[in-house]
Amino acid sequence: MKAIEIKPDIYWVGAIDWAVRDFHGYVTPRGTTYNNYLILDEQITLVDTVKHGFSRVTIDSIRSMIDPSKIVNLIINHIEPDHASGIGEIMELAPCATIYTTVKGKKGLDRHFDTSQWKFRIVKTGDTLNTGKYNLLFLETPMIHWPDSMMTYIREVKLLISQDAFGQHLATSARFDSEFIECASHAELEEAVIDYYANILMPFGQLIKTKIAEIQKLGLEIDMIAPDHGIIWKQEPAKVINMYLDMASGKAPLRIAVIYDTMWHSTELMTIPLMEGIKEEGVECKVIKLRATPMSAAIKDFWQSRGCLIGSPTLNNLLYPSVAEFLTHLRGLRPKNRLIGAFGSYGWGGGAVKEAYKEFEKMKLDVFEPGLQVLYKPSSEDETRCYEFGREFARQVREYHEKFT
Ligand code: FEO
Repeated sequence: MKAIEIKPDIYWVGAIDWAVRDFHGYVTPRGTTYNNYLILDEQITLVDTVKHGFSRVTIDSIRSMIDPSKIVNLIINHIEPDHASGIGEIMELAPCATIYTTVKGKKGLDRHFDTSQWKFRIVKTGDTLNTGKYNLLFLETPMIHWPDSMMTYIREVKLLISQDAFGQHLATSARFDSEFIECASHAELEEAVIDYYANILMPFGQLIKTKIAEIQKLGLEIDMIAPDHGIIWKQEPAKVINMYLDMASGKAPLRIAVIYDTMWHSTELMTIPLMEGIKEEGVECKVIKLRATPMSAAIKDFWQSRGCLIGSPTLNNLLYPSVAEFLTHLRGLRPKNRLIGAFGSYGWGGGAVKEAYKEFEKMKLDVFEPGLQVLYKPSSEDETRCYEFGREFARQVREYHEKFT
């Protein structure tokens, strides 16, 4: 693949993965890219590698410009295998290179590779590397989104190489935001940013705000953000920073997601009057059936809604398995600033709605109580109860939403 110059003598040498649809369980209908960057300075420096299996692509790009053995420095901003599993191939070609990474980065690399012959320099926030005309500054970003994570800032060109942060799972021939917007749209790009944030970075909102404030305090001007996935922010780097600050501060649309599953359609039937009640209150609503929707798409819909109703039939006194799976996944993402309630059909003793509220309590989410249960199939009276439940929930979500505006 052709290397693309993103700043003078700094090249994108990454790979486009058009085909990936399952990214460690996260659905990627638009594929992704593994971005890494080559700095052709007095000391030739490679920032990150790519996913194993794509090393040939990045090595060919590097070779089109220089002999890879001339790489003096290899910066590993993040050790997750989609960025670091190609390190073995690079180190075979440039065995004398020094690897720059954090303490935790080194620890992780030691567990994955035989590092006994590799040279390391452990770096922390504020450490620098002069490559000739460029000065690189390292910024640790632990838990954004792994303990080892860091970013690399190049002062002279105001370029922030941000690893996963500000990335998107988008396979595209466009390398820059301006190109992508021209051939696709702003909305598609924003959607990809939100999808990525919801599924990867949702737990780290407070850390994200702190880290962005730290970067601003250091007075680092940012002219371009080059993440390790998707397009590079050339035209509007501030746009993605503001999107992150908004999401980290709890910004969400006044919208309700009804996320459910069903056995014999009774819980599903409840969603119709629920949705009508919500709509009657003038609140936008989206209904998502879990077995018909990839988990990561349902998570994104949850994140893009101020309120959420979880619907589950009772199975053996517990939640329906797909709903339990969704809630377990959601709990791991430590959601905040959302109002949540539950509903469902039962046949004998019930239990699913109660179990759902136990999960909400573990997540410390703000709850709408009590939940709504229907025996077997909803009767016309039950449909009226569902409709009123939807209306009341929508009213409360609107009131709750005002706290964030
Ligand atoms: Fe794209 Fe955390 O790896």
